[in-house]
Amino acid sequence: MRRDLAAPETELMEDETETEEGGEGAVIKVPLDTLYKSHGVVAYDIKTNKGAVILPAGVDISLFESSMEIIVDKMREEGIDHVYLNVPQQLSETDINEIIDKVYAGNAEIISKEKAVTVIKGVGSMFNAIREEDISTDIVNQMSNMSADLTEDLVRNPQVAFSLGKVQDADEYTFVHSFNVAVLTGYLTGRIHQGDRDYLQRVVMGGLLHDMGKAKIPLDILHKPGPLSTEEFDVMKKHPNFGVAMALKTGVHDPVIIDIIGGHHEKWSGKGYPKGSKGLTIPESARISAVADVFDALTAKRVYKNSMSSRNAITMILKDSGAHFDAKVARELLVSLGLYPPGSIVALSDGRVGFVVSGGGKDLVRPVILMKNEKEIDIPEFIDLKNEPNLCIAQYIGHSEKRDLGYARLSLPTKPAERRPL
Ligand SMILES: [Fe+2]
Repeated sequence: MRRDLAAPETELMEDETETEEGGEGAVIKVPLDTLYKSHGVVAYDIKTNKGAVILPAGVDISLFESSMEIIVDKMREEGIDHVYLNVPQQLSETDINEIIDKVYAGNAEIISKEKAVTVIKGVGSMFNAIREEDISTDIVNQMSNMSADLTEDLVRNPQVAFSLGKVQDADEYTFVHSFNVAVLTGYLTGRIHQGDRDYLQRVVMGGLLHDMGKAKIPLDILHKPGPLSTEEFDVMKKHPNFGVAMALKTGVHDPVIIDIIGGHHEKWSGKGYPKGSKGLTIPESARISAVADVFDALTAKRVYKNSMSSRNAITMILKDSGAHFDAKVARELLVSLGLYPPGSIVALSDGRVGFVVSGGGKDLVRPVILMKNEKEIDIPEFIDLKNEPNLCIAQYIGHSEKRDLGYARLSLPTKPAERRPL
């Protein structure tokens, strides 16, 4: 019979506890087979059946390098098959940024930062024009050209998660969010409808325009740093219909685009808005954009809330599928990003720490990982867990998932007093 003397009283290691940046580190479960190549400090006393200590808590296992074989044999005799190690190392902000730079440098086909900024500024100009009541077909054509351009990238780019932008402040939220929703909606649609480039371009355009009706929402409600009151939410709920009216007025009649603008807040249960449509009566493009919309909102950092990791956002969306979301689309989000989505920071079973750079495809727990290499930081080491049967992810540490686009703030009206009446 197996004994688990090395384990703590409660099984808190196997949960999804996230360590804050700059925190104490992570406790990971290490099989005895890989202990000899692991790093870290023994987390709990390891004792024999009779209570004699084999390895005390707090000891660095590297000290036992020469006698590791004897210690491992002793533990096996005692029926112990794994130990818990404290891995004190944590990636600093600088480490993460260096790693992210490497990921971008190695993936020329990712949507470029310049292109992302151009598109986000395009969305900002569209909002500005709506607020100034100066929206023209030129602006819509510009958005259409941008959609075509993004679609080209989406067809080629497998690393969509790293194409999403981080929000700097409240003013920019809607514009960055529109870009992210366009990219994610296109990505998910591309996976569901493989090869249909024309449809893909139309949903990308729908994503860019999906919140255009928010340009008619008072800025004190739109930028409110916290939850909305019932009255404020009632005003906010008008944005899909405002958007549809605005799109039709500017010559956008494509039903796929209109469905996204008007239907991205509908829920599978029928409890969404504005129509309260239910299940498959909600157009597919709207059901896909609803998942993209909430995923990006959950993973965004705002003044009043921290960003949720993609991993937790996927879990939340899956739990809510069948009520809020189409289960088929929610599953596609999981399968395409994996249980450790790109941007996750993880500790491997040998104690090393790395950064997930791409999903594992069909194998949701075996992604490709860029290792933190302390000695030769300029030589990136990628580990594809699919090719490493003896290694696995032992601990999810945290996340750093969206890139800092660092663009200049757009010159848009920011005070409610400067707003034109609805
Ligand atoms: Fe919306």
